[in-house]
Parts: sequence; C-alpha cells; structure tokens
Amino acid sequence: MSTDSSGISFTAHYTGEVWLRQGWSDPALSTPQGRLFYQAARPLEMAARWLTGSNNELLLLQRHAIIDYWLHQALQLNPDLQVVELACGLSPRGQSFIRQYPEMTYLEADLPEMAFRKLKRLEAMGVQAKRHRVAVCNILQTEGEYSLAALAKRELQADKPVLCITEGLVNYFTLPVISRFWQSLAQMLSTFPQGRYLTDLYPDFSWHPHLRWVRPLKNILAWATEAEVSLHFADEQQIRQHMRSLGFADCQVHVPESYYGWLEDLPILPVPSLVRVVDCSL
Ligand SMILES: C[S@@+](CC[C@H](N)C(=O)[O-])C[C@H]1O[C@@H](n2cnc3c(N)ncnc32)[C@H](O)[C@@H]1O
Repeated sequence: MSTDSSGISFTAHYTGEVWLRQGWSDPALSTPQGRLFYQAARPLEMAARWLTGSNNELLLLQRHAIIDYWLHQALQLNPDLQVVELACGLSPRGQSFIRQYPEMTYLEADLPEMAFRKLKRLEAMGVQAKRHRVAVCNILQTEGEYSLAALAKRELQADKPVLCITEGLVNYFTLPVISRFWQSLAQMLSTFPQGRYLTDLYPDFSWHPHLRWVRPLKNILAWATEAEVSLHFADEQQIRQHMRSLGFADCQVHVPESYYGWLEDLPILPVPSLVRVVDCSL
C-alpha cells in the first residue's frame, strides 16, 4: 500500500483561509494558495448555498466549532492535557488553545512539507516551543520515525492524559485504510492514563437530500487530491459499533443540530447537516 498521500496537502491552504475569513485564525497562517483557492471556490460555494441552503464552508465551520467545544470541555477536566493534532495543516487551533490554557501542551503533526511550513509560520508568530511543538507524522506509516507510535514515544509524557484530533482527514481514505490508523491510534492512546479522540466525519447517509450533489463533488476531489475520497457508514449506530470494534471503549457521535442556538459561532443550516463529530474514548 502506498503511504504517499501528499496530494491531499493543498486542501489545507483552503481550510486555513476559511478559518481566517471567519476570524478564527491569524494572518500569519494565510498563504497565497489559500487566498487563491478561496476566491476560486466563492462562486461554487455561493451557488451551493443558494441552491441547497448549505455548502462546504458552512460544514467546515460546524465541524471546527464542535471539535473546539469538546476540546474546551476536556481541558476543564484535565488542564494538563497533551493534545495531539494530526494532519494539522494550517489550523489555528493549537495557537488559540495554548494561549488560553497555561498547563496544556499542544503537538501538531503533518506530512513533512506541511509540518515544516507550519513550524516556520508558528516560529514567526513567536510560539512557546516548549509547550507547542510541530512534528512530522504520516498516519499511513505503521513503523519508522514518522509513524504514530514513534511520535508518541518521542514527544509525549507517559503519565499524562492525551487527546488526539484529526480534522479534514479521514474521508480521504477508504474505510479499511483509515480503520488501520484508528486501530493503531486506539492502541497508542491505551498506553496513557486517559485517551480520547475527536474527529470530523462525512457519513454515507442515504436519506440525506444532498448526497446526490456530494457524490460528483467527491469524485472531483478524489481526482484533484489523488486520494480515495470515501464516505463512511450508513448510520450513526454503525459509526459507534465500528469504533468500538477497533478498540475504543466508548464512542459518541455529535450532530450539529444539537448545538444550534447555544454554541456560539456555529452556523445554523436550514437543512440537515452532513457532517458529524466522532468522539471516542478509552
Ligand atoms: C483538509 S487538510 C486539513 C487541515 C487541517 N486539519 C484543517 O482542518 O484545516 C488535510 C491535511 O491532511 C494532511 N495529510 C494528508 N495525508 C496525511 C497523512 N498520511 N498523514 C498525516 N497528515 C496527512 C495534509 O497534509 C493536510 O494538511
């Protein structure tokens, strides 16, 4: 199996620009590519919103806000949490949380080129390198210095809880491929006093009125990223069962509609949301 999924990396420029335009990021994390992709996607995003009431950007904002919410909750319980954000791209989350929680540590990781880019930009912003680090990790590598196991051994303290995040990653892989990663993640997290995993996920709910629009877009994205873009799971029960079968003791699936009206900054859609946040613990 190929472990080169670097074709996906350009999408981080686009999401990075979305976070910035929403006021959630720092201009230092904006790139010329991100600005270009953002402008190029405007007509499509606006047309989608006009035609369907939703679009990709609104779903990105929903997933990001819900992951942030649960990370805040986790830090209330464990202020010394070690957060590991895999496939971090140009997300501002590390920078934003490290400023608010003085006892936590934040480890961002991505493929070599993106990790290097992120590190340079964080350095320019003057991050506190001891508490906020950037490393290389390829979630497809099961061994070697870029594997998840090596990252954990090298970078994390064995006696403190760990919360791992992936955002905008899992749907770029088929279920068998991403399940191998999930299994090794569950195994890795089980070696810490507490382990938790938060990820967004776009399911394959046949009842959803937008799937007929999403399926052709999925093929375009697969072509552009050279990845096997896939929608996973026919319902929420399947998500929970699958994650438990891979070694997680508990799995909850967060539905954006449950957060409407009380979670600040969460866009409210007039149609059912097509994103979920999966919350697994050990
Ligand atoms: C859609 S971007 C998401 C970036 C960020 N999480 C966000 O939401 O803004 C996907 C990210 O996955 C990273 N990526 C792709 N394949 C990866 C792999 N095998 N291991 C780790 N990261 C990977 C890319 O470099 C890119 O930064």
